Amino acid sequence: MQSKKLFGQDREVKQSSQSENEKLIKIGDLKILPCKQVYKPSDDTFLIFDYLSSLKPSLKNEQRKALDLGTGTGVIAVLLAKKGFTVTATDINPKSGNCLKLNASINKVARKITFKLGNLFEPVKKEKFDLITFNPPYLPIKPNKGDYLSLAWSGGCGGREIIDTFLEKAPSYLRKKGKIVFVHSSLNNLEKTLEICKKVGIKCKVLREKKFFFETLYLITGKPEMEVTLSKH
Ligand SMILES: C[S@@+](CC[C@H](N)C(=O)[O-])C[C@H]1O[C@@H](n2cnc3c(N)ncnc32)[C@H](O)[C@@H]1O
Repeated sequence: MQSKKLFGQDREVKQSSQSENEKLIKIGDLKILPCKQVYKPSDDTFLIFDYLSSLKPSLKNEQRKALDLGTGTGVIAVLLAKKGFTVTATDINPKSGNCLKLNASINKVARKITFKLGNLFEPVKKEKFDLITFNPPYLPIKPNKGDYLSLAWSGGCGGREIIDTFLEKAPSYLRKKGKIVFVHSSLNNLEKTLEICKKVGIKCKVLREKKFFFETLYLITGKPEMEVTLSKH
């Protein structure tokens, strides 16, 4: 419990020291401008970014739709657009929209990305995607009123609220053969997450993991289990 608290505070201090005029940072081949009150790419971002970077750009991706939930600066959305996907990026933080637009322009993929403001899948009701990415907030803390940045780590009561809702809803937003790729922390009970994957009919596996002082970060991928259809006579 103590370590969770310290971890949260540590991140908060690092992130809140961002100034309005931050300099461009280089992440892989991208140039990203961090913005005030928007989550600055960090270790969890790099875990998912490195994996997605290893995917080959494909002409087939031109027809593929990706959804980047909780996009922050838009770094993952921009990467996916560079890989050829048509991307929708969402965030509950209104400051994220401008930041993403800026970063999409800097990296010359603005026409491939649409930003929608809102909670998880609410802004994309009735749409389906080939790839859904999410680096979710997961600390068991309440967001501070008026502090958009605190939404980046507040995972609601017990820290699992956002992850659980994401997993329960994800199958309805996946195209056939679609997949989810998301970041998970050892602070959030990996076994429980894998159990929920099973319960909602998603076959999940850990792709990568990275150890840090207070936690281990996992990168998880999942795709819908084959539907078992019973023939009627
Ligand atoms: C850990 S940050 C990740 C940001 C970015 N994807 C990255 O990897 O650097 C989590 C992001 O999710 C957003 N977020 C938090 N709760 C959300 C919700 N219910 N629906 C959509 N976005 C949410 C936060 O505002 C924040 O931008």
